[in-house]
Amino acid sequence: MKAIVHQKYGLPDVLEFVEIEKPAPKDDEVLIKVRASSVNAAEWHGMTGLPISRLLGGGLFKPKDIRLGVDFSGVVERLGKDRTDFKIGDEVFGARSGAYAEFVSVKNIIIPKPKNISFEEAASVPTAAITALQGLRDYGKIQAGQKVLINGASGGVGTFAIQIAKAFNTEVTAVCSTKNVEMAKSLGADFVIDYSKQDFTLLDKKFDLILDIAGTKSWREYKRIMKPEAQYVIVGAQKSTGLIGPLKHVIKIKLSAWREKIKPAFFIAKFDKADMTLLKEMLESGAVKACVEKVYPLEKTADAMRRFGEGHVQGKIVIRM
Ligand SMILES: NC(=O)c1ccc[n+]([C@@H]2O[C@H](COP(=O)([O-])OP(=O)(O)OC[C@H]3O[C@@H](n4cnc5c(N)ncnc54)[C@H](OP(=O)(O)O)[C@@H]3O)[C@@H](O)[C@H]2O)c1
Repeated sequence: MKAIVHQKYGLPDVLEFVEIEKPAPKDDEVLIKVRASSVNAAEWHGMTGLPISRLLGGGLFKPKDIRLGVDFSGVVERLGKDRTDFKIGDEVFGARSGAYAEFVSVKNIIIPKPKNISFEEAASVPTAAITALQGLRDYGKIQAGQKVLINGASGGVGTFAIQIAKAFNTEVTAVCSTKNVEMAKSLGADFVIDYSKQDFTLLDKKFDLILDIAGTKSWREYKRIMKPEAQYVIVGAQKSTGLIGPLKHVIKIKLSAWREKIKPAFFIAKFDKADMTLLKEMLESGAVKACVEKVYPLEKTADAMRRFGEGHVQGKIVIRM
């Protein structure tokens, strides 16, 4: 089967479009013919080899796992003998490493695909939407009626975060650049701040919850616009190099706030069947929709990664098999 691999760390030129062995499903796995996948920061860090992840077992000098891709949508091709929960031909979506390929064999995170959306839209959902959901609900303790600020509202995580925060009946202020203001409004944001024109940390307004996806401000600046009982959740940061890369932002914020009443939360999203099922329902009801900037064919994955690396994708970049 065709797949994208990388034998060394580096920028998108390291990606190779090659023929590799098609996986066979184990007894407890489902073989999926992948129709689409999408690009997230996880693939970017896997490709470039963030030093901290190399030290933590990713492969010190070259990647241990040469495959890339996590999110997938596709069709059930074959079932392991213990699998009775799906049938051949079912349309599904989920998460499994090695998804930039024509087939993946999956054990856990497989959910029926929402019928009302395309394979490309479904493939844009898993990582980004689950991150938005868990950030707002589990770490942000989101409640109806709250004032929520989303910094970095127009990318993969942000476009889902606006809609999920609205589904919780909150008032949403979205921060993004000029070209994305109308999109953020169309996704339901009550207020949109164009960061190229206005510093949102100088607003005369206090928030109950800040979801910090872009990681562009200091603790002192965020604190100015937080209510005393606010929740502040770090999702990500600006792309940076060095040993710990974007984790530098997390450490800086945690150190600055160590004596504060508000405790900044940082988390790594976890794939979870119940959350994926909830997202499926939200997609089916229309409470949430996928925003796909562009679809690239599998052989053009390097171009897709280059676009993601610019840091200004409008919604998600999708890869079609
Ligand atoms: N904790 C987790 O489990 C987890 C999971 C997934 C992702 N992440 C992290 O979350 C971050 C975002 O991921 P993503 O997939 O959403 O990335 P993305 O699609 O590249 O989106 C990033 C967004 O940041 C915005 N941005 C850039 N500069 C900004 C600024 N100065 N102020 C406000 N917004 C700015 C861009 O919007 P404009 O084009 O409008 O500038 C862009 O749309 C990354 O750091 C990633 O590592 C964390």
